[in-house]
Amino acid sequence: MASSYYQRHLFFCLNRRENGEQACNNHGLAEEMFHLAKKHAKALGMHGEGLVRVNRAGCLGRCSEGPVAVVYPEGVWYTYVDGEDVIELVESHLRDGKIVDRLRI
Ligand code: FES
Repeated sequence: MASSYYQRHLFFCLNRRENGEQACNNHGLAEEMFHLAKKHAKALGMHGEGLVRVNRAGCLGRCSEGPVAVVYPEGVWYTYVDGEDVIELVESHLRDGKIVDRLRI
């Protein structure tokens, strides 16, 4: 069996809705946090083949709990409120493999 292309994969829901219904990126925070996570992973030299990848995603189906992000292969779901949360998620889970319980949903 081929080994996994990435050690870990972080997806941010960046869905917006114009009809007033809740969506993770309605206020633009998710987009901003996605860019921050990607930039930080790159700065730590861990973004790329054989390492980790941060990706945008459409609706992940947990809108009422948003904004949401998920890390595979562990399948651990998170929410966040600011850049500090996202930096911790990148450093603790993506880099060190330690799940961030306080941000888990
Ligand atoms: S809008 Fe983000 S999970 Fe549905």
